[in-house]
Amino acid sequence: MLKVRNLNKSFGDKVILNDISFDVNKGETVAIIGPSGSGKSTTLRCINLMEKPDSGSLTLAGKTYDYAALSKQDISNIRKSTAMVFQNFSLYENKTAIQNITLPLIKGKGYSKKDATEEALKQLEKVGLTEWKDHYPAQLSGGQQQRVGIARALALKPDVILFDEPTSALDPERVQGILGIIKEISKQRITSVIVTHELEFALDVADRVILIADGIIVEEGSAREVLKNPKDPRAIKFLGHFADKLEYII
Ligand SMILES: Nc1ncnc2c1ncn2[C@@H]1O[C@H](COP(=O)(O)OP(=O)(O)OP(=O)(O)O)[C@@H](O)[C@H]1O
Ligand SMILES: [Mg+2]
Repeated sequence: MLKVRNLNKSFGDKVILNDISFDVNKGETVAIIGPSGSGKSTTLRCINLMEKPDSGSLTLAGKTYDYAALSKQDISNIRKSTAMVFQNFSLYENKTAIQNITLPLIKGKGYSKKDATEEALKQLEKVGLTEWKDHYPAQLSGGQQQRVGIARALALKPDVILFDEPTSALDPERVQGILGIIKEISKQRITSVIVTHELEFALDVADRVILIADGIIVEEGSAREVLKNPKDPRAIKFLGHFADKLEYII
């Protein structure tokens, strides 16, 4: 479904991503973990072209795109095939929950207002927010705002959903609810990539785990393999910070 090859990205003279290559098969959930500043968000942002990669290629839904030679049509195709769920929710503050979902459907996907509303209601119901549909983001808790972010991503029916630390801005008591929703999405075999610090969740839900350090994939495998038997010194150091937790969950 998603094939990233030799993705390179620098900011100024600083290399941020160094030849990143990985696959996500249809229906798979892949977790990306790694130290702060290692390039996890940049990887997701390059995949959906919020950042322009310097070089490499992407195969998405059967079509291969060369990052060095993207046409306007390519950019539009890639953006339509991916949906992002952000750490800070990224909702329009002056739009209600339902409008946050219908707007991209109408503007980005050419839905009629009626069809967009129907789809938005369906997705809001899935995340348990039907009664909150006419509330503005400021009237919703962080967890509820993230549910809107997830409902919006689902409504777009992308080929892949990219989650960038979807729970790290939430109060601790809201985290499990959101992780539960993401687990449901994963069970429905919706292709997804999740950047997360929730290692227990990665172990529970991810088909595979990728560990990025210094812009390089240093470990890749089943969650158990990566978390239990890391081989790269940078991975060992990173996972060392979670030693107590890992001992308990593995
Ligand atoms: N637009 C930008 N301009 C310059 N440098 C950037 C930009 N975006 C990210 N960086 C740098 O790229 C590096 C990787 O950032 P990135 O956000 O991908 O890390 P991360 O692994 O997601 O970290 P965290 O776990 O803290 O979210 C960091 O050193 C960051 O400062
Ligand atoms: Mg990040």
